[in-house]
Parts: sequence; C-alpha cells; structure tokens
Amino acid sequence: MTRMKVGILSGGGDAPGINAVIRAVVRKGIQNYKDEIVGIKDGWSGLLKGEYTRLDLNAVSGILPRGGSILGTSRTNPFKAEKGPEKIMENAKKTGIEAVVAIGGDDTLSVAHKMSEFGLKCVGVPKTIDNDLVGTDYTFGFDTAVSIATEALDRLHTTAETHHRVIILEVMGRYTGWIALEAGLAGGADIILIPEKPFDIEKICEYIKQRHARGRNFSIIVVAEGAKPKGGVEIVYSESLDEFGHIRLGGVGYFIGKEIEKCINLETRVVVLGHLQRGGSPTAFDRILATRFGIAAIDLVHQERFDRMVTLRGNKIESAPLKDVIGKRKTVDLELYDVASVFFG
Ligand code: F6P
Repeated sequence: MTRMKVGILSGGGDAPGINAVIRAVVRKGIQNYKDEIVGIKDGWSGLLKGEYTRLDLNAVSGILPRGGSILGTSRTNPFKAEKGPEKIMENAKKTGIEAVVAIGGDDTLSVAHKMSEFGLKCVGVPKTIDNDLVGTDYTFGFDTAVSIATEALDRLHTTAETHHRVIILEVMGRYTGWIALEAGLAGGADIILIPEKPFDIEKICEYIKQRHARGRNFSIIVVAEGAKPKGGVEIVYSESLDEFGHIRLGGVGYFIGKEIEKCINLETRVVVLGHLQRGGSPTAFDRILATRFGIAAIDLVHQERFDRMVTLRGNKIESAPLKDVIGKRKTVDLELYDVASVFFG
C-alpha cells in the first residue's frame, strides 16, 4: 500500500451530501491508506489559484449531517481561463497532489476527464440534485430535494383546498424532470410538467375542469423549471451564461399560472421552491449513498483506476469511465411518468 497526497474538490451547484463524501474520503484515506488529504477550495478555482485547506480527521468531525460543502464550490471552468489546465498541473505538482477526487455534476466531471488527458489523475463522484447523470441510478442530493419538494406539496395541498385555488409549485430541473416527477408522484400532484414532455395549456385547463366537474375545486401542479410549452422555448430568468454556457431558468410557474387564469375562473398562486431544495441536511438515503461513494472513490484512487466515476447500479457501488458518462443526460423514466399520469386530472 502506497500512501498518497490526494486532493478533493466540489464543483457546480451544491447538493446535500457533499460533506458526507468528503468525510468518507478523509476517514478511509487517512485511517486505511495513511494518505494526506488536501481540501481544494471552491471547485476547480482552488486548483487554478492554489487555494487549499488541510483535511485531517478533526476537520471532518461532525460534518456528516451538514448541508453545503465545507470546501465551498464554484462554476469555474479552467478551460475558459488563460493557460488554465497548465496552471492546474503546475499547482498540483507544486503542492504534491498526486490524485484528485472531483465531486460534481456533468460540468465538473467533464473538466476532470479533460484534465485526465493533461495528466491529472482524477476520480469523479456524481453529485446533482437533478439526478440527470448517466451511468448511475442515483446521484446524491436528489433524494433530499425530492423529500423537500414532497413536503412542500403536502403543505400546499391544505391551503389550496381551503381557498379553492390552483397552486403551482416550480421545482429545479434544468434539462430533466426527475424532481418534479418523483415529488409529484409522492405528493399526489394533479398535473406534472417536465422538460421531456412539452406541455399544452389547453390540456392543463381540461384536467382542472375535469377535477372541478367531480367536485374537486382546487388543483396542485408541479412544474420543472426547464419545462416548456409545445412548440415554445424554456422561460429564462436571466440571459447571462455561466462559464459552462448554462442560462438561468425560472418563471415557468408564473407563465402557466397566468395562462390558467385566462381559461378558468379560478385563482392561481405560484411557489418557486428554488434553493430550499439544495440547502440543509441530507436525508438518510443521501448520507449513506454519499458515504459509499466517498469510500469507493478513495479505493479507486489506490487501485489506480483513474478517469472513472463511482456509480450506483441497483444496490451495488461500481464505477464507469468518465468518457462514457459525460456530455450526456439521463432523462426521466417515461414508464414512471405513465404511472404518475394515471392520477392527473
Ligand atoms: O444543476 C443543478 C441545479 O440545481 C439546476 O436544477 C438549476 O437550474 C441550477 O442548479 C441552479 O443553480 P444556481 O442557482 O446555483 O446557478
């Protein structure tokens, strides 16, 4: 067994469970492999600028249930910085970092793969509340987001029913509707709108009228931020792009609310759940998944199986080459959508 100096970073939007991954990497790295673990601050930005923090056993004590990331995060793309990849290689060498565990979604992991081509030894850990990474059944953070959105739906139900209103809950999900679908199914939503299935306002109004006809004079709609009308485009909050070319979505709930008020004489209200879905403590499922991912990641480092991402397949932790999982998107299971649609209207 060779002891190593291993760097760890978290990039992209945060997700409940990042700290559980960090804790697992540090505990197993130090206890089993006698490693030195270096915390890289704010994603790839920390390796570009040379900003680190030492992670010993005490530094990770008590962080298992904590949301966010003790290392911070950023959407920095080193391939957008002048001589970015070269600077990263130089800083890794200077600090003696021999391998990097990169916790992130598609953007962070794509950088990890490209950096592998520059000679940086990387292992990826799949993280996104959107659950849209291919190669893994689940990403950590998703289960927490679904439980928060489900609780929101339960709470919205009672007030919607009391006031005889249509309430629309807008949840995250830039390109895929996993959160909307699973929370909608668990929370008994009357209509679920996802990016994978462009919506038709007339059909939505028909469902609400159908409910009305059988005496249900309120409705709950859950919509993913990336859902768009048939033949239309996503509703954008701001045109500015991040370093990976993503636009900021938001507002589709208000668009739908106004359209519904035009076709039905019912008051509508809109709730945008936003970052409440990402903040705070992870569920037990996410803590366990993140911990298993972290253990598997440090094991992969010591097996010298680099340029790979840890995955969950069934109940087994496995791994897949980064090149096979990046630049793709795991869209929702349409069979599950069919199950949910039995309860529409
Ligand atoms: O990628 C995960 C995600 O939660 C998306 O669903 C959402 O569009 C995005 O992050 C928003 O992130 P931020 O507000 O941090 O830019």
